[in-house]
Amino acid sequence: MSHIAPVPRVAANGADIPLLGLGTWELRGRACARVVEQALRLGYVHVDTAELYENEREVGDGVHASGIKRSAVFVTTKIWPTHFAPPALERAARDCLVRLRLSEVDLLLLHWPNPQVPLAETIGALCKVKRDGLARNIGISNFNSAQMEEALAASSEPLVCNQVECHPFLDQSKLIAACRQHGMAVVAYSPIARGSVRDDKVLSRIGIAHKKTAAQVCLRFLVQQDIVVIPRTSKVERLAENAAIFDFTLSDGEMAEISGLASRDGRMVDWAFSGRPKWD
Ligand SMILES: NC(=O)c1ccc[n+]([C@@H]2O[C@H](COP(=O)([O-])OP(=O)(O)OC[C@H]3O[C@@H](n4cnc5c(N)ncnc54)[C@H](OP(=O)(O)O)[C@@H]3O)[C@@H](O)[C@H]2O)c1
Repeated sequence: MSHIAPVPRVAANGADIPLLGLGTWELRGRACARVVEQALRLGYVHVDTAELYENEREVGDGVHASGIKRSAVFVTTKIWPTHFAPPALERAARDCLVRLRLSEVDLLLLHWPNPQVPLAETIGALCKVKRDGLARNIGISNFNSAQMEEALAASSEPLVCNQVECHPFLDQSKLIAACRQHGMAVVAYSPIARGSVRDDKVLSRIGIAHKKTAAQVCLRFLVQQDIVVIPRTSKVERLAENAAIFDFTLSDGEMAEISGLASRDGRMVDWAFSGRPKWD
């Protein structure tokens, strides 16, 4: 398999985040380690994991097996809300590093807001973890605009991103504007709508004009707006497809047509498909 083109990066409050990363939710065991290793060998430079995914060990195995220099790969992990009280957060961050076999991560996120722990305390602990050198950058995930404002007000360190569900079927325009206003990157999770973009007629038609697949058009639509994408695949043969998104440009008309697919109720991830996360 030939090497993918260099991945552009986006600057966000002092961080320099590769616009394409590999998502790893639901990847487990040796298959997870293998796909991470192959992705990095192919030229991916960014991997997204979380405590919740129970695969940090395998993600670490893949990173180490790839032979990639530590400084060349951007590793993100996330702390689950049951660990948001300050002493637990620091312990959880250290545990992530042990599983990943890294001395620091490039980005550490609060996975989901937790109304049961005062946000200022959690943010204070997250900032301390950064100051102690366990994370080069910190940020949030699944925070709405109001929660994001509260987090920013409480933080003594820059918050570099909000990782949220983002794809052409979901209208996230307000949150994207709010992130931009604060210099934060938007990291799009489920960027190909959990695979469902492949059946979309508009994306497929635009893809034919560019000799690209619907998934590639979808990912291009996001990165063309400087939105970071972290598509997940368990199939090594799809890694190159999902990375071949930097060699074509969608016209203004195509961008507008794809924007027209969005709706306010287009979510694919309603937490674990069962309503709210469980805190206890
Ligand atoms: N912060 C959060 O709360 C949160 C929530 C959800 C996800 N995430 C992160 O975001 C990542 C991506 O989101 P996701 O895993 O929910 O969904 P996704 O990346 O939008 O879609 C993954 C699905 O699409 C399929 N697929 C991959 N490439 C494809 C292609 N080129 N054409 C057609 N189908 C393709 C995959 O199947 P195959 O495996 O068969 O290729 C898989 O079923 C996650 O893995 C995780 O790292 C974060």
